[in-house]
Amino acid sequence: MTALQGEADAPIRYTTVAMFLHWAVAIIIVLNVAIALTLDYMPDGWIRAAVDLHKSFGITVIGLVLLHLLWRYANPPPPLPVSYSPWERRIAKAAHIILYTLILAMPISGWLHDSAWNLAAQFPMKLYFLVPWPRIGPIENLDPVTKEKLHTIFGFAHEYLAYVLYGVVALHIAGALKHQFIDRHPQLERMMGWLNRRPTRF
Ligand code: HEM
Repeated sequence: MTALQGEADAPIRYTTVAMFLHWAVAIIIVLNVAIALTLDYMPDGWIRAAVDLHKSFGITVIGLVLLHLLWRYANPPPPLPVSYSPWERRIAKAAHIILYTLILAMPISGWLHDSAWNLAAQFPMKLYFLVPWPRIGPIENLDPVTKEKLHTIFGFAHEYLAYVLYGVVALHIAGALKHQFIDRHPQLERMMGWLNRRPTRF
C-alpha cells in the first residue's frame, strides 16, 4: 500500500467528541479573556460577579482539557496528511504540546493567584454562583506576608502567560489557514466537520 493510499484510508476528521471539546474550550477561553480585559470598563456593581464567572469558566477549562486529553489518548487524532514536510510536522506537534500546556497553565496560575489572595476567606469561591469550590489549601494556609508576595508573582504569571497564549493561538490559527487556503489542503474540516460532508470513518 502506498503512503497516499494509506492517507485515503485514514480518518480525515477528529471525532465529534474531540471537536466539541476543542470548540467548547476555545469559546470559553475567548469569553474569559474578554471578561478579564473589560473588567476596568464595567460598572462597579458587575465586577464581583464578572470575576466569579471568570473563575468558574477557568475551572471548567481545566476539567474540559483533562477530559480532552483522556479522550485523545483513547482516540488518537487523524494522522497529518503525508504532504506535510517534516518541519511542518514538528512545528504542528510542538504547537499542540505548547497549547495544551498553556491552556492548563492559565487557569492553574489564576487559581494559585486567587488562593494567595488575602481576602479569599471573605469571598468564598462558587462555581457559577452555585457550587462551592476550594482554594488551593497549601497556598491559602500560608502566612499573610508570604501570600501577598505569591499573589503578586502568580498574578504576573497569569498575565504574562496570557500574552504567550495569544501568540501561540495566533500561530495555530495562521497554520490552519495556511494549510487550508495557501497549500489548498482541506484542513479546517479536520476540526470543523460541518464544513464538508465527506464521510468520516468514525
Ligand atoms: C482559561 C482560563 C483563564 C484565562 C484564559 C484567563 C485569562 C485572564 C486574563 C487575560 C486576565 C487579565 C490579566 C491582566 O492583564 O492583568 C485574567 C485576570 C484574572 N484571572 Fe484569569 N484566566 C483564566 C482562568 C482563571 C482562573 C481559574 C482563576 C481563578 C480561579 C482566574 C483568576 C483571575 C483573577 C483573580 C484575575 C484578576 C482580575 C482582576 O483584575 O481583578 N483566572 N485572567
